[in-house]
Amino acid sequence: MNQPTYSPPLQPDSAVVRFRGVTRTYGTGAGQVRALDGISVDIQRGAFTAIMGPSGSGKSTFMNVAAGLDDPTSGEVWVAGAPVHTMTDDQRTLLRREHVGFVFQSFNLVPTLTAYENVLLPFELAGRRVDAERTAWIQQIIATLGLTDRVGHRPSELSGGQQQRVAIARALAATPQIIFADEPTGNLDSRSSREVLSLLGTAARDYGQTIAMVSHDPVAASYADRILVIADGRIVGDHGRMSPQEISHLLISFEEQVA
Ligand SMILES: Nc1ncnc2c1ncn2[C@@H]1O[C@H](COP(=O)(O)OP(=O)(O)O)[C@@H](O)[C@H]1O
Ligand SMILES: [Mg+2]
Repeated sequence: MNQPTYSPPLQPDSAVVRFRGVTRTYGTGAGQVRALDGISVDIQRGAFTAIMGPSGSGKSTFMNVAAGLDDPTSGEVWVAGAPVHTMTDDQRTLLRREHVGFVFQSFNLVPTLTAYENVLLPFELAGRRVDAERTAWIQQIIATLGLTDRVGHRPSELSGGQQQRVAIARALAATPQIIFADEPTGNLDSRSSREVLSLLGTAARDYGQTIAMVSHDPVAASYADRILVIADGRIVGDHGRMSPQEISHLLISFEEQVA
């Protein structure tokens, strides 16, 4: 038997997230819900993947299991080479801290800290040193995200789009194996949404950052390299880049099948 280790180096072309026959049920008996119903899928390094599907289809459950926030009921889940299905809560917390970044619809910035302090916060919480190389990387991200003259501002002094860019800078700063973004443009106007989405695309293309984004918005998903569609806890669609119109048609066809 191979003894699993929790932070083995990944091969450059390997899957950052690997699901094999994954189920996640809630409750027991007649009231049991199968939120994930036998999912097998790989998310490759460097890809920008959109996860779509009707409300209640299992998108959040998929993301929570893939991010090590929740464990599967059965099947195997590998994140950054680590077997999440065998791990304790504490081990999953360490895995997330080291390898996973998050961007939320609600930005989740600390209101009393400046933008720059918010970006550095995960390092402080993890007791991780910010060396000269890391500082240079953070400066580069801040410049790329157009935040250089905003770093001393508190969240309340920034627009929604700027706040979300700070949250993206915070996620990118730690160079995680994968960033999960849950409806990252849900609270933004269309212009700020486009900015945030093209920055996520830039992070994947130029920095090789792996990104998985849950969204119900066909325009948002059109920025992704790959579109996974979930319905009733199963993957029912796996597509390459598509236009917003093509994605809308795809979703309508699945909603008609489900209904
Ligand atoms: N903590 C929970 N307890 C019970 N049922 C849950 C829980 N989380 C999700 N579910 C159920 O699992 C299914 C999938 O939910 P979810 O993953 O949140 O879907 P989505 O994000 O696509 O809207 C739904 O039927 C939902 O009611
Ligand atoms: Mg959800």
